[in-house]
Amino acid sequence: MLTISGVFAGYGGGDVLQGLDLHVPTGAITCIVGPNGAGKSTVLRVVSGLLKPRLGTIELDGTRLDQLGCAGVLAKGVAQVPQSQALFPQMSIRENVLLGGYTLRRDKTLLNKRYDHVSELIPIVAERSNDKAGNLSGGQRRMVEIARCLMVDPSVLLLDEPSLGLDPKSLTGVSQLVRDANAAGTTVLLVEQNVRLGLSMATHGVVLEGGRVRLEAPAGELMANPEVAELYLGGHASESRTARVSGASLPADTGSGR
Ligand SMILES: Nc1ncnc2c1ncn2[C@@H]1O[C@H](COP(=O)(O)OP(=O)(O)O)[C@@H](O)[C@H]1O
Ligand SMILES: [Mg+2]
Repeated sequence: MLTISGVFAGYGGGDVLQGLDLHVPTGAITCIVGPNGAGKSTVLRVVSGLLKPRLGTIELDGTRLDQLGCAGVLAKGVAQVPQSQALFPQMSIRENVLLGGYTLRRDKTLLNKRYDHVSELIPIVAERSNDKAGNLSGGQRRMVEIARCLMVDPSVLLLDEPSLGLDPKSLTGVSQLVRDANAAGTTVLLVEQNVRLGLSMATHGVVLEGGRVRLEAPAGELMANPEVAELYLGGHASESRTARVSGASLPADTGSGR
């Protein structure tokens, strides 16, 4: 379990995260949705160690992560897929993926084992291994970026807007890849501005507003919640499903301070 407790964090001009409490269950796919500027990317930054919380704690199975910095957090098995455009275009797919295993460079057997595992999970790595990364489409690049991240065999994978700029076919591929990585044992915490897509990929959903959790529920329940539908899905929650929603109502006043 990844536990974020009472986290306040920002960039010098006031706190973006305003006392964030969030539980990310082990083995699940948790998706944080919410409007632009809600602090979604900031949540991933404090977890991955890119940004230090001003107050509060972040723990993975009881171990504090919040004072470790990026390298320390990575060493604990929490890896963030960087934003797109993160591949070296002149290098081959294989070289790009192997870079993800840089910390294993002294253990060639393990490095090769991980590479084989990742190629099996993400076929494009094997199919296009000698192609330059610059020749790939946006969706293919996203998959290779995830592949590179999986080289460290993370226990928790952090993904910021995996759908950004992808065509529908690539979206399906990336969603499936996230599910496959999860089925192979990786806990996933992802952030999506595309609420419908994010919740459809996830098992757990979190609505973030003004740097606080406004609502937390099984993803299907959130998707069917009439207020979520109204605010984020264009009012299209199906009647039959909304009738079954339980325990997932939005408080009238969140005091979110935006
Ligand atoms: N590097 C930064 N420096 C200053 N302000 C930032 C920085 N990154 C984000 N912010 C601000 O923090 C707020 C939340 O940003 P972010 O976490 O990126 O939101 P989201 O991912 O939900 O769109 C926004 O108001 C944004 O302008
Ligand atoms: Mg963002």
